[in-house]
Amino acid sequence: MRYERDEYQRRVRSFFREGDTGHISDRIMKFENLMAYYRCAMMEIETKFNVLNEEFSLHYDRNPINGMKSRLKSLYSISEKLKSRGLDLSVEAIEENLNDIAGVRVVCSFTDDVYLLRDALLGQDDITLICEKDYIKNPKPNGYRSLHLIVGVPIFLEHEKRIMKVEIQLRTIAMDTWASLEHQLRYKKNIDYSDSMAKELLHCANISAELDSRMDALRSITLKDRKH
Ligand code: GTP
Ligand code: MG
Repeated sequence: MRYERDEYQRRVRSFFREGDTGHISDRIMKFENLMAYYRCAMMEIETKFNVLNEEFSLHYDRNPINGMKSRLKSLYSISEKLKSRGLDLSVEAIEENLNDIAGVRVVCSFTDDVYLLRDALLGQDDITLICEKDYIKNPKPNGYRSLHLIVGVPIFLEHEKRIMKVEIQLRTIAMDTWASLEHQLRYKKNIDYSDSMAKELLHCANISAELDSRMDALRSITLKDRKH
């Protein structure tokens, strides 16, 4: 632990001291600028989802979005990820290699809403899809479900337009509950799951998937009734 902290501090010190780009204050400024650009990109994505939510409540009298959270990856996590990939800690390496510096998590009411928001976002002409992982159609072996998108979104600065990458996780309330609790269990225990724990978690994930499909079925019935 102590070694890891020292190693981290060494990396951060060298990140801000060394390098070919000159003075330390230039490097700090470059890093802080990059983080500010990612924050702007997160705001753009959040606004896009808020607009879609607003439009839905106007046209259909309901909100597909139950909640939204954004986070910027910490310098510590950035350093750890680059280290694990054998890359130097540099502003260039961050921008080129990491897709999840800016993250937006959107919790939806129903599974259909996840895909509806996905389609509406990707249909916008300033958004480019870089990568998509559908862990709803193909859950992870441990039972994790969510739709992950990495998108490019432009931010407009005083003299330039920059395309920034944002990781978006779309999931239902049930998927979010499972993922949040699983994360807490894993994080707090800091140990590998025993087989029986893993089995139990997978069982919980299956129950949560069943809850979603039952709620989706109920919703289809209410939609049909509304048409008549
Ligand atoms: P990272 O390097 O961890 O960012 O993962 P990746 O590049 O392989 O991407 P992936 O799409 O698999 O996962 C990205 C993010 O999804 C993670 O940082 C978590 O927020 C979330 N996630 C993925 N798998 C799990 C899981 O099993 N449990 C929970 N709670 N969250 C997960
Ligand atoms: Mg990640």
